[in-house]
Amino acid sequence: MSDSVKPSGADEIPFRNPGWAGNTGEFDLTEELVRGEEYVGDLPAHGGHPGRAPTYPYMLKDREPEAPLFEGPYEERFEKIRSRFPTARAALLPALNLAQEIRGHISQDTMREVGGMLGLSDAYVRGVATFYTMYNKRPVGRFLIQVCTNISCNLCGGDEVLAAFLEATETEMGETTEDGLFTVMEVECLAACGTPTAIQINSRYFENVTPADVPAILDRLRDEAS
Ligand code: FES
Repeated sequence: MSDSVKPSGADEIPFRNPGWAGNTGEFDLTEELVRGEEYVGDLPAHGGHPGRAPTYPYMLKDREPEAPLFEGPYEERFEKIRSRFPTARAALLPALNLAQEIRGHISQDTMREVGGMLGLSDAYVRGVATFYTMYNKRPVGRFLIQVCTNISCNLCGGDEVLAAFLEATETEMGETTEDGLFTVMEVECLAACGTPTAIQINSRYFENVTPADVPAILDRLRDEAS
């Protein structure tokens, strides 16, 4: 990009997560400013494809399904979300995102709480939350492994990668392992069709995955969890 078309403030913004809209410079905000430093992941030391979106900002060490919503450091982030959107309805998606970051899933109670804080009806919030598969409606493991089996990935063995994860974790689709670490799901296109098979683990992408890679990926996640 030439200097003449760089957005204002782009020089000061660290190039950390090219997929994150804040880095356009439009708001002169860093990811750390919006999410809080402790919620921004470092680049994975190894693994994955070099072209991946190198981030996993939602990955907290422990999610607490009963944690209070939007208190402490989350209160400021919630207020930032509110201030950036013209209406409560427009703020609903990021507010649900933040709630999922805290609690790991969006239960009926969480939908009611978020709706109450935004002044939206239960029915409206439920309609939005149940429309998007990215909101987990029930608890998932610490690592949510989503395997793409859509066209490109399917042609390159996506079904076999999915089967390998299910076999290695000894789970059925959507089940969580007894140690609470892994939930394996099948998903539609992850928009990484050029490097199939693509999988998404929490917010982190791995590309060009084959069944042979599965044990190493799981070992690495177990290491991260220990
Ligand atoms: S088909 Fe798998 S990422 Fe698009």
